[in-house]
Amino acid sequence: MSTHDQLKRTTMDYSPDRPKAENPLNIMDLTLRDGHQSLFATRGRTEDMIPVAEMMDEVGFWALETWGGATFDTMHRFLNEDPWERIRTLKRYAPKTPFSMLLRAQNLVGYRNYADDLALAFVERAAENGMDIFRTFDALNDYRNFETVVSMIKKCDKHFQGCICYTMTEPRLGGDVYNIDYYINKAKDLEAMGADSICIKDMAGLIAPLDAYDVVKALKETVKAPIHLHSHFTSGMSPMSHLKAIEAGVDIIDTCMSPYAYRTSHAAVEPLVMTLLGTNRDTGFDIRQLAQINEILEKKVLPKYKHLLDDSKVSIIDISVLLHQTPGGMLSNLVNQLREMDALHKIDEVYKELPRVRKELGQIPLVTPTSQIVGIQTVNNVLFDDQYERYKMITDQVKDLCYGLYGKTAVPIDPEVQKKALKGYSRGEEPVTCRPAEVLEPELENARKDIEGLAEDLDDVITYALYPITGKRFLKWKYGQEDPPLEVKARTLEEIKAEEELVKMAKLGLLVKKPEKEVPAKDAHIRKFDVFVDDRYFEVEVQEPEGMPMVSYMPQMPFAASSRVAPPARPSTPVPAAPAPAAPTVEDIEGTSLTAPMPGMIVKYLKAMGESVEKGDNVVILEAMKMENALPAPEGGKIKSINFSIGDSVAKGDVLCVIG
Ligand code: CO
Repeated sequence: MSTHDQLKRTTMDYSPDRPKAENPLNIMDLTLRDGHQSLFATRGRTEDMIPVAEMMDEVGFWALETWGGATFDTMHRFLNEDPWERIRTLKRYAPKTPFSMLLRAQNLVGYRNYADDLALAFVERAAENGMDIFRTFDALNDYRNFETVVSMIKKCDKHFQGCICYTMTEPRLGGDVYNIDYYINKAKDLEAMGADSICIKDMAGLIAPLDAYDVVKALKETVKAPIHLHSHFTSGMSPMSHLKAIEAGVDIIDTCMSPYAYRTSHAAVEPLVMTLLGTNRDTGFDIRQLAQINEILEKKVLPKYKHLLDDSKVSIIDISVLLHQTPGGMLSNLVNQLREMDALHKIDEVYKELPRVRKELGQIPLVTPTSQIVGIQTVNNVLFDDQYERYKMITDQVKDLCYGLYGKTAVPIDPEVQKKALKGYSRGEEPVTCRPAEVLEPELENARKDIEGLAEDLDDVITYALYPITGKRFLKWKYGQEDPPLEVKARTLEEIKAEEELVKMAKLGLLVKKPEKEVPAKDAHIRKFDVFVDDRYFEVEVQEPEGMPMVSYMPQMPFAASSRVAPPARPSTPVPAAPAPAAPTVEDIEGTSLTAPMPGMIVKYLKAMGESVEKGDNVVILEAMKMENALPAPEGGKIKSINFSIGDSVAKGDVLCVIG
């Protein structure tokens, strides 16, 4: 049993070389991962981390979180950066402080369970590239999903941090599922698995200060491993919860540098350093050194990302988690998805349906990927169900969940929903109860064969295996087989300034003025910028040397934040200025059209040209908001036209194929 010292003043010496506290609070900095993931859609580039990496290495952080979570996805998809290279680069600038990554257990850094061979290779390569601490979580808190990755973390002699995803069914800790005993039992399980530290992962900012106190105290009394608290600011409670957790003896707390703090991110480090100054839990940090880092971030880095900050609200607190327990990120996804489908007015129905869907799907915690699974199924139910039938359009991920592919849910899944979801399910209609990855075939060798000739090393193969479509596209960029589109290129501060000028001019109405000079011819190096002014969107083309900015068109489309955040944007004008991809004209083909019920990306066509289909056969897999949806044939017949290719983005209502 550990002793819990009250927080007390121990010195009046506040100099940077003040005496070390008896039990200094350890701090992990999240700026370089969760910070920009939470505030700037994970768009932080390595080149913008380098200016502060060396200084951050000097602060004395317990660890720097630099990788994992959504970074792998966004880097190769949107930033044309090799995710593996980031670890190696940052390590050169910050060699002293351990690096931590967020590992989604058997989901690795993706959105489904991967096979054991891929999971083992991924962890081994991450360790080899320089990762030290593996913060591991499973969305269902089913630790059987830890077994494979933990075996490799241990084999590589790295730090295994086991997470307990913090969730509730009541407004506060308690009730019959997520009560204090639940967390105590989970911590015992983690200790038995050899956890080097245990993290309470409060991804939605749900933990109330007194509950934080109770949970931390209970865990300190139950297990030996250090206790780490990760609590997002979203609801506004986290700084208070931090202090109560410190009183209960928490060992490590997560914070961000102040420009990357608050909103849906984390509390800032500086107020916490000041709060603990001169106490028995003093961090020992030099606040002036932190200020110097902030100065660089604020002036040299943040201007490049400010446009990604959600400034649609003045309040920095999102009370929806207090009202609906909907994690901040999930809520903005739901809103974007509804907006893209012109159904934003149904948000209240979504709030009402959400707890019901969550309960029917086994009262699961809401964290990536379960937050998307529950969220998107809820939206589907609200949009497509009628009074006679619920769950009319079930996503493949919900089917997988019902089959047991994600693991064991906190309470059993509603049998009726489960039966409906598994009707005709490809793996079988009887759910499994084993460790989910046991039913998965090895996949690394196939990936290696598929990408032969393009991948140069195992890291490339893994990138492809995790993300077959976008990973392959990235490897083509990496090895010069395809030119990356301009939108994945980094922008300079000068370009940002020019863009801000344009926004100013647009606001003053100056951009629509007729140019007095003759319009110069566009050259091949023209660059496009998306400029958002209130709810209007401008596409601005800029060219040098003497080209003048001009508005090429000005669609009156509602401001869709998701087009910058969610993966499948409509194909932005292809690079060699050509007309929109010429789909076969469907008007000429007689038959029934299968249209996209929502915007998304074509994952694959399950039927070929000329193939016969029965009504209800699945024809197309469409990825929308990271979930795959199988779209059934509206009528039987032969496939008469296939209008898109794999990887194409489609809008709602686009004709995907014609059956006749
Ligand atoms: Co987080």
